Amino acid sequence: MAKEENKLEKIVSLVKRRGFIFQGSEIYGGLAGIYDYGPLGTELRHNIKQYFWDKFIAEREDVYGMSAAILMPKRVWEASGHTELFTDPLVECKICHERVRADQPEAIAGHENTHKKEKGKMAWSESKVFNLLVETKLGASEKSATEAYLRGEITQGVHVNFKNILDSMHPKLPFGIGQIGKAFRNEITPRDFLFRQREFEQMELQYYIKPDEKTGKEQFEYWKNFALDWYYGLGFKKENLRLRQHAENERAHYAKDAWDIEYYTPFAGWKEACGIHHRGDWDLKRHSEYSGEDLSYYDDETKERFIPWDIECSGGVDRAVLFVLSEAFTEDEMNGEARIYLRLLPKIAPVKVAVFPLLKNKPDLVFKAKEVYGVLKKKIPQMMFDDNGNIGKRYRRQDEIGTPWCVTIDFQTLEDSTITVRDRDSGKQERKNIDGLDKYFEEMLR
Ligand code: GAP
Repeated sequence: MAKEENKLEKIVSLVKRRGFIFQGSEIYGGLAGIYDYGPLGTELRHNIKQYFWDKFIAEREDVYGMSAAILMPKRVWEASGHTELFTDPLVECKICHERVRADQPEAIAGHENTHKKEKGKMAWSESKVFNLLVETKLGASEKSATEAYLRGEITQGVHVNFKNILDSMHPKLPFGIGQIGKAFRNEITPRDFLFRQREFEQMELQYYIKPDEKTGKEQFEYWKNFALDWYYGLGFKKENLRLRQHAENERAHYAKDAWDIEYYTPFAGWKEACGIHHRGDWDLKRHSEYSGEDLSYYDDETKERFIPWDIECSGGVDRAVLFVLSEAFTEDEMNGEARIYLRLLPKIAPVKVAVFPLLKNKPDLVFKAKEVYGVLKKKIPQMMFDDNGNIGKRYRRQDEIGTPWCVTIDFQTLEDSTITVRDRDSGKQERKNIDGLDKYFEEMLR
């Protein structure tokens, strides 16, 4: 498959222009690997998270949702193995002292390109190990300050609450705990826009099972396919997603087996969207040891006590946003003019329906358009009213933000209470009655 080198630049430019995503603290020069979401990006991200929450948590009888704190004491990360093993190798450029990932040839080549003038003098330090956890201190005085970490994965917030969930909800194995929230990593080389950030969001399921090989294999297969189906539900083409097993030397310290769901990005080829990990009893066993709390499970039926195994699905919210935008970004021609549009599935589009009066300076049209907008918004909250510029420009604007349908109120509306509905992908317009329009869109969204 061919890569489209400048597609990422086009996407970055579009999402800034249209209020989806901005460089974090941009007016102060920004911070590498940190981004802020504007109004439309926030809606898009919300829709993706909602879809995760519905499918992995709310619609299931065997999964609980939770929301743990971002700040956790150092001891948690010692127990989870992250203070010791959550590292990347880095090398330092001897010319400018910038540090880059030693295991990423593209990062090294990219940096060497910035020193074209010093050709021949390029030299790198020995590779060193660098811990990715983001450390902080809590408390007013230097002496009594508590060392804490901003969580490097949201997972540990679930494991440290395992006993609380057992004691309060009394679940029976197998059962899961799902969560969505921010994670922080001091990435050496943040790159490719939202792909590798220092602050990002994860959506995860920890699914606890009986500790035996057959159950482990079956559940691992089940969740691999469940997660892959979930990604297809975001609108990816069949050929743009795949499952890939990690080689032994690629696996994180906690994983007995690991597979990635990868997306074929137009800018960098196959890249990880989600990790499916067989974590075995690694986390609960270590937290039992380090905290002194008994994190075992008692099986009423078999009268056995054991530490369950954990099968994990761990997806990046921001990577899902980036990959969905990459898949949806389309350039074509309509009515002899070049256009850009986002071919987003209606369920994740930040605006579902835009309503326009044909002309801004005709009070009757504006009044009627506001009325239609008000009625629809009660049923479909993600709506937009637009009367800026001519109708062609408004369609282009809505195409660029991926709005599936535009409703126009024109002079005929005032006579027969009909409007036009324009379809984003085909540009085709259909006349419909205002009466029943809310039901029509609700049906289309279903
Ligand atoms: N709890 C397991 C875990 O955190 P991971 O493979 O390190 O596993 C899971 O991360 C997902 O989080 C990745 O598949 C990716 O989507 C997202 N992710 C990881 N690091 C990221 C980063 N620096 N920027 C954006 N997303 C990231």
